[in-house]
Amino acid sequence: MGIDPNFRTSRPVVGDHSGHKVYGPVETPSKLGIHGTIVAVDFDICNADGSCITACPVAVFQWFDTPGHPVSEKKADPVNEQACIFCMACVNVCPVAAIDVKPP
Ligand code: F3S
Ligand code: F3S
Ligand code: ZN
Repeated sequence: MGIDPNFRTSRPVVGDHSGHKVYGPVETPSKLGIHGTIVAVDFDICNADGSCITACPVAVFQWFDTPGHPVSEKKADPVNEQACIFCMACVNVCPVAAIDVKPP
């Protein structure tokens, strides 16, 4: 199952990270929540495939280390979500549907 597209209203904002919001629940290191609002990555689903980082034409994502997470020990972090041009390449290439993109 991929990222819940309703997370922006159904999940609480529990913090900020590198200029974007974090939606809980978060229990570090095993539960990391969803990072980003315009370009959102469910850290609990991301398996560090990396296709989104290669595909994005405007470098929205950067690797973020998540040691101890059961799925993968790094995640694609949407550090530059404001730069998104909504090409949807990342959504289309992610093999586990961990990304949801919504214009503000
Ligand atoms: Fe990049 Fe995905 Fe936006 S590929 S431009 S973050 S829709
Ligand atoms: Fe993760 Fe999917 Fe990107 S698995 S690294 S969000 S392509
Ligand atoms: Zn983040």
